[in-house]
Amino acid sequence: MAPVVVTRRLPDGGVDPLLAAGHDVETNDGDEPRSADELRAAAARADGMVCLLTDRIDADVLAAGAGRLRVVANVAVGFDNIDVPAATAHKVMVTNTPGVLDDATADFAFTLLMATARRVVEADYFIRSGKFHGWAIDMMLGQDVFGATLGIVGIGRIGRGVAHRAKGFNMRVLYYDPNPLPPEAEEQLNVQRSSLDRLVAESDFISVHTPLTQDTMHLISTPQFNAMKPNAILVNTSRGPVVDEAALVQALNARKLAGAGLDVYEREPAVHPGLVSLPNVVLAPHIASATVHTRSEMSAMAARNMATAVRGGRPPNLLNPEVKR
Ligand code: DGY
Repeated sequence: MAPVVVTRRLPDGGVDPLLAAGHDVETNDGDEPRSADELRAAAARADGMVCLLTDRIDADVLAAGAGRLRVVANVAVGFDNIDVPAATAHKVMVTNTPGVLDDATADFAFTLLMATARRVVEADYFIRSGKFHGWAIDMMLGQDVFGATLGIVGIGRIGRGVAHRAKGFNMRVLYYDPNPLPPEAEEQLNVQRSSLDRLVAESDFISVHTPLTQDTMHLISTPQFNAMKPNAILVNTSRGPVVDEAALVQALNARKLAGAGLDVYEREPAVHPGLVSLPNVVLAPHIASATVHTRSEMSAMAARNMATAVRGGRPPNLLNPEVKR
């Protein structure tokens, strides 16, 4: 039997479901991301690949695996790193890890929202650099969160998780999504559907939760920044390219909005230098799902998807069901 290749280190026990099922598992304990050549070589010798969002599983990698590779299991809910149509053309199943990271990610979106609104990182730096010489009435003034208007772009599971948290802050919540929620869900979450134009114009906080697709690339760009309130804060925990990063830097410098809390970037791990120099931006290194529990659940889910698929079954989180009739 050909091996299952795990492209990078997983949390302890991450490959246990595969080992328990008796698979030959090739791991990468060094955790260096594999090069394109290494990914192609792995695809050519493996039955399955467990990969991370840093691995680009493109048409070349999938072509290298043609005839052998049967499944690619992403340890992430987002799967823009995988060319799913090319996988389908080569009859390779693709799976992801939906659901298990919703709460951690929604928590972190709120963390960035609060940290940016109340200037927590700037305040911490202020203290550590010895600048706190006494209380002042106008020191580190931020934005109110309780009772403010929140715009949620993308009302999938994570967007709904953010709306759920916003109830506790008595926020008025608008959402933009091509797929409306059923009226009962809108009522239960206390959210109102809106156009993107209205959402950006009325929101004090805008939190992005849409997957990256051709339609959502640069969904938030100069026209949206120009329409924002000057006190608005943008939060992005989805995928970097949904926000036009160069336009964001320009807009922040022109004070079209008040700040941003970002976990994802257009060209990760590169971060636009214009963001790094701004004190009103809170930057995190793509850690929204990074809790001990969530990351191990994500790994276990990917391993279970893989174990089922290489046994010839239909994995629970199959993204291209047309491969497995
Ligand atoms: C995902 O799963 O897509 C996140 O970006 C990483 O947890």
